[in-house]
Amino acid sequence: MAADEAHTDQGDAPEVADTVRALCADFDNRPEALIEILHGTQAAFGFVPDAAVEVLGTTLNLTRADVHGVISFYHDFEREKPGRHVLKVCRAESCQASGSNALARHAEGALGVPFGGTTVDGEFTLKAVYCLGNCALGPSVLIGETLHARVDAAKFDDLVAGLREATA
Ligand code: FES
Repeated sequence: MAADEAHTDQGDAPEVADTVRALCADFDNRPEALIEILHGTQAAFGFVPDAAVEVLGTTLNLTRADVHGVISFYHDFEREKPGRHVLKVCRAESCQASGSNALARHAEGALGVPFGGTTVDGEFTLKAVYCLGNCALGPSVLIGETLHARVDAAKFDDLVAGLREATA
């Protein structure tokens, strides 16, 4: 299976539909609440599945283009199911000055996916971010809610190995 095939998992469509309809009902099916409902959808599934877009359109009386327009405008919304662990590598200037470009190359090679990609086993998604507020201690990597400082290739490998062990 190719790396991008891991992104085809769109979740259970009936479950998505039920959840999104409930979220819409919480906002009295008001189309102006679309952003809040999208945030709720992403909180529930980790991304905004295709089935959610359909239901949002019909329930809120919006076109698919309306819904897609909002999703694509706000970069917080994910359209693909993320891996179990999302590794966010800071690629902003201060971290670059302390070696994040080399770390970024290493991370892509170690996981076998480019930035934005998810490993075929669904364990890891690699993302680039631009400043995590930890500039003096870069390169910085955020995994879940935990910020890691001064991450070099060896530390990155240790973090990945630890995550693999924790979920084995
Ligand atoms: S530039 Fe990387 S944490 Fe600020």
